[in-house]
Amino acid sequence: MQLMEVLRSRRAVRNFSSQPVTQSAVEELIQAAVLAPSAMNRQPWAFAVSVDPTFIQPMAAQAKSFVLEHFSGSGLEPELRGMIENPDYQIFHHAPALILVFATSGAAQDAEDCCLAAQNLMLAARDKGIGSCWIGLARPWLSQPEALEKLNLPPNYRIVAPIILGYPAEWPESHGRKEPVIHWIG
Ligand SMILES: Cc1cc2nc3c(=O)[nH]c(=O)nc-3n(C[C@H](O)[C@H](O)[C@H](O)COP(=O)(O)O)c2cc1C
Repeated sequence: MQLMEVLRSRRAVRNFSSQPVTQSAVEELIQAAVLAPSAMNRQPWAFAVSVDPTFIQPMAAQAKSFVLEHFSGSGLEPELRGMIENPDYQIFHHAPALILVFATSGAAQDAEDCCLAAQNLMLAARDKGIGSCWIGLARPWLSQPEALEKLNLPPNYRIVAPIILGYPAEWPESHGRKEPVIHWIG
């Protein structure tokens, strides 16, 4: 695909076919992710991956319970709260694969670096016909030391981008974009 076509046609995908995502496909996406620029070329990222839905399902339940327990009263917009309080709402949308992008350095701007890597990954996925969706709702649980311990990850890792992956049941329509606000300042 041409770059602009990839940019225009990438969508947040939340409905997946039963086709699994292979380890080698994930590895190719991570190779695309690490082409991103980073401050001082520190490349302060690490990737935790599962392509096992039986592993991802319980994580989804745990991350959802955490959000409901800690944010249900006040910290969530009513519309979002209503959505995730629905017992059928699965935080990872039953995706067959999950990539967690962690910032590893503690240096200023390491989160920005990881966001760029995550965007590369999602665009490369689109190019390969793989759908992706960034799941911010999983961050509160993944930010807990207990979660890192449970996943056998180093305690200094900071979650930036939980991204689900899978072959789309269908590509969603675009929700469109607002006109950009542009100030010509010189
Ligand atoms: C930082 C961030 C957090 C997001 N968190 C969630 C989430 O928790 N659950 C979800 O289903 N989608 C989530 N999304 C996906 C957005 O809702 C989606 O990208 C947006 O509606 C625009 O749609 P598009 O990606 O198809 O253009 C998130 C996206 C971003 C960038």
